[in-house]
Amino acid sequence: MKTAVFSTRSYDKTLLTAANVKAGHELTFLQDRLTSNTASLAAGCVAVCVFVNDNVDAEVLAMLAAQGTRLVATRSTGYNHIDAVAAARLGVEVVRVTDYSPHSVAEFAVGLLLAVNRKIARASARTRDGNFELDGLMGFDLHGKTVGVIGTGKIGTIFARIMLGFGCTVLGYDQYHNPAFEAMGGHYMSTVDLVPDCDVISLHCPLTPETRHVVNAESLARVKRGAVLINTSRGGLVDTEAAIAALKTGQLGGLAIDVYEQEASLFFQDLSSTIIEDDVIQRLVSFHNVIVTGHQGFFTQEAIGQIMQTTIESISAFEAGTELVNRVPLS
Ligand code: NAI
Repeated sequence: MKTAVFSTRSYDKTLLTAANVKAGHELTFLQDRLTSNTASLAAGCVAVCVFVNDNVDAEVLAMLAAQGTRLVATRSTGYNHIDAVAAARLGVEVVRVTDYSPHSVAEFAVGLLLAVNRKIARASARTRDGNFELDGLMGFDLHGKTVGVIGTGKIGTIFARIMLGFGCTVLGYDQYHNPAFEAMGGHYMSTVDLVPDCDVISLHCPLTPETRHVVNAESLARVKRGAVLINTSRGGLVDTEAAIAALKTGQLGGLAIDVYEQEASLFFQDLSSTIIEDDVIQRLVSFHNVIVTGHQGFFTQEAIGQIMQTTIESISAFEAGTELVNRVPLS
């Protein structure tokens, strides 16, 4: 099936091509992000394959549908970048990768927590410069601390299990109680407002209209002073300006983010030779107790292999008219 693959980098091309050997779909790799300016590049393609910072809103979907696109396959779990309701109205199917190594993101979140708490990036930068001083590198034991996990689905539950292994008390908040979370020793909070008990808060819920800016000036005022916030989920969960204000007063003791609300114009590209106009991200990276990574939580051999395999399987299922098991839900 003719498929336009947007936002491709060299690894996408290599791994999607490898996954496609048997299926033999006609893949056109495009480095561009999908927007209303680039949608025409998919003319004649029944399937369009996208990634997290492609803009698959109602306008773009209407353009794609008019050109003959009938399937949008996102190489991600999250689908907040796709207007699934508009797609359904236009007769365009939307599939995602429901399941791929949740360990990749959970382990990365733990890595960010260790790095920001124990100042590992700062220490490494110092020793490269011949500075072996310890001043400013003190962290805290995770053992015995309380960790709040917002969203106890696949990734949140694995993160919780690792934290329990560190000897932490783990509190969770989720509309749906996951028996696996409780069985391993996690305790549910009845409301997210119990977060003040937490030394560490890690976000693992999807970005929805309800969860947008779930971390904001008011909620940050309620967290335990000096708490560390980890966000590997979606940038829009955090009001970044409010987080900066809380970092300035010390209310937030550390912040590590793999996702950023305005990441679409920054992430997955080398901007090291350009002037970055986004003052918010520039302010963020200026804090010694902040770590920013460019949406790489999923980036392990195991996860990427599964993402590409599932994407090709979905395109093949659509072509064969068989059940789309990874269809994006409409609610
Ligand atoms: P999941 O669907 O298994 O778990 C999400 C959980 O969040 C569910 O239990 C759901 O009930 C809960 N939830 C929904 N609304 C909530 C709310 N208002 N408050 C509290 N909990 C709520 O999803 P999974 O696989 O664990 O992924 C979680 C998120 O991680 C994704 O939505 C995505 O945004 C992000 N992600 C980030 C990646 C990265 O590379 N940094 C890669 C993959 C996913």
